[in-house]
Amino acid sequence: MQRREFVKFCAVSAAAAGSPVLAAADATPTFYGRVKLIDDSGAPLKAAALPAERNFIFHYPYAATPCFLLNLGRPAKTSVRLATADRRAYEWRGAVGPQRSIVAYSAICAHQLAYPTKEISFISYRAEKSPRNRLGNVIHCCAEHSQYDPAQGARVLAGPAPQPLAAILLEHDAKTDGLTAVGTLGGEMFNQFFAKYEIKLSLEGGAPRATTAATSVVHELENYCRQQVKC
Ligand code: FES
Repeated sequence: MQRREFVKFCAVSAAAAGSPVLAAADATPTFYGRVKLIDDSGAPLKAAALPAERNFIFHYPYAATPCFLLNLGRPAKTSVRLATADRRAYEWRGAVGPQRSIVAYSAICAHQLAYPTKEISFISYRAEKSPRNRLGNVIHCCAEHSQYDPAQGARVLAGPAPQPLAAILLEHDAKTDGLTAVGTLGGEMFNQFFAKYEIKLSLEGGAPRATTAATSVVHELENYCRQQVKC
């Protein structure tokens, strides 16, 4: 039997686990292609190779849409009830990996769509506290200080963001220790993102709306991005 550790997110799995089935109006997962996460050298990324509390970036489900991959260094909550800006409820069912500490989220801020580019990033995970970040252990967008809790499905803790970051659904293969992105859960911002940035992204080259191929390279943010704005 294949020993995969699935994020338990869909109504079917929720029912199987004895959880209430989501109502029709609830936000349900959106499944995109299965995309294996690989490292810079092209080898499958191992969950054990992810250092704790560091920012990693990969692109999913589109070639131009960045996501954070984080090892929180501690188990995340296993069930968090959240809602999108248009009040669709959903249940985030926790992290993956041997210590249930690995999470992934869209890196597009749910407020006004700040996102990490190769030139600059206003948004990233911050373990440390600062005068503008009294909480620590949050994904903090320095544009207008939205703060999200990555251990609770990217719940909004502070700032103007109207909803959590969309979660990226991961599978962890316990046999190979590999990670695969399979879909999203929560309030996707992809349509708004492309409406705002598609011309800019097209001028930068490539096809922004192309979906990620079978693999997606995971980069450490400090290697991917020239300047990280800290606040
Ligand atoms: S764009 Fe992130 S807080 Fe405004």
